[in-house]
Amino acid sequence: MDIARIGVVGAGQMGGGIAHVCALAGYEVLLTDVSRDALAAAPGAIGRDIGRQVAKGAVTEARKAEALARVTTTPELRDLGACDLVIEAATEREDVKAAIFEGLVPHLAPGAILASNTSSISITRLASRTDRPGRFMGFHFMNPVPVMQLVELIRGIATTQETFDACAGVVERLGKTHSAAEDFPGFIVNRVLVPMINEAAYVLHEGVGTVRSIDASMKLGANHPMGPLELADLIGLDTCLAIMEVLHEGLGDTKYRPCPLLRKYVEAGWLGRKAGRGFYDHR
Ligand code: CAA
Repeated sequence: MDIARIGVVGAGQMGGGIAHVCALAGYEVLLTDVSRDALAAAPGAIGRDIGRQVAKGAVTEARKAEALARVTTTPELRDLGACDLVIEAATEREDVKAAIFEGLVPHLAPGAILASNTSSISITRLASRTDRPGRFMGFHFMNPVPVMQLVELIRGIATTQETFDACAGVVERLGKTHSAAEDFPGFIVNRVLVPMINEAAYVLHEGVGTVRSIDASMKLGANHPMGPLELADLIGLDTCLAIMEVLHEGLGDTKYRPCPLLRKYVEAGWLGRKAGRGFYDHR
C-alpha cells in the first residue's frame, strides 16, 4: 500500500500536531475542521511549532517552508477523498466521529485506509460504522505530537495485517515508534495513565495535597516530566473525563470511577490549557 497523501480531520491540538509531523516527513497533508476559525489558525500554529524545532537546529528553514507548503486546509470533508490515509482527530465523542466517517466514506477510494486518533473509543465499533472494517486502524498519537516518540496502533477485530503494516510504515517514516495494542478500553497508555490522573484529582478532592504539592511530589518523587494535574491540563480535562467514563463503563470496575471533582471542573468549563483554566489558571 503506497501512502503519499494523508488527510487529517480536526485542526485542534492533536490534529494540528499530526499534520505537522506528517508534512515534515514528506507527506502531502489535507487538513479539515468544521470550525473555520480553527482551520484558519492551524497553519500559523504549525509554523510556530516547527519554528521551535528550527530554533534548536533540528529542522532547517528550508525544510520548514517545504513542510508548510505541503499542508493544504479545506472546509470540505469530501476533499479528503483524494487521500490514501485519513486520520480522524476530532472531539472525543463517538457520535461526532461516526458522523465524520459517514460523511467521508462515499468520497474515499476503495483502497484508502481510515484511522482514528481516539484515545479510548472501541476501534472495532468505530470500524463497524464504516464500509471498510479491514482497512480501519486506531492511530493514537501522544500530546504534544511533535515531541512524543510513541504512536499506539490499535487493531480492530477485522483490521487486516496489510493495513497494520501500512500504518506501521507511516509511523516509521514519521521517525516515531509504534506499540501494538489490542482493542480494549483505554488501550495501553490511557489504561495506565489516566487512572493515575484521576487518582491525583481524588487526592486533591480529599484534601490530601494541594495542586502544586501533588504535582511537585510526582515530579520530584517519581521523576515524571510533568505532574499529573499539569498533564491533565495539557491533555484536556474533558478528554480525561471521557476516558475515565469509557474505562468505567467498558471494564465495569469501580476502581475506574471518575473523580467528582474532575467532573465538576469539566461542568464548569475548566478544561485545562485550551480553556485558559483547569487545575491551574493559564490566563
Ligand atoms: N512542538 C514542537 N516542539 C515542542 C512542542 C510542540 N508542540 N512542545 C514542546 N516542544 C519541545 C520544546 O521545544 C523542547 O525541545 P528541546 O528539548 O529540544 O529543547 C522540548 O519539547 C521540551 O519542551 P519545553 O522545554 O518547553 O518543556 P519541558 O522540558 O517541560 O517539556 C514536555 C515539555 C515535552 C511536554 C514534557 O513536560 C513532557 O514530556 N510531559 C509529559 C507529556 C506526556 O506525558 N504526554 C502524553 C500525554 S497522554 C496522551 O497524549 C494520550 C492521550 O490520549 C490523552
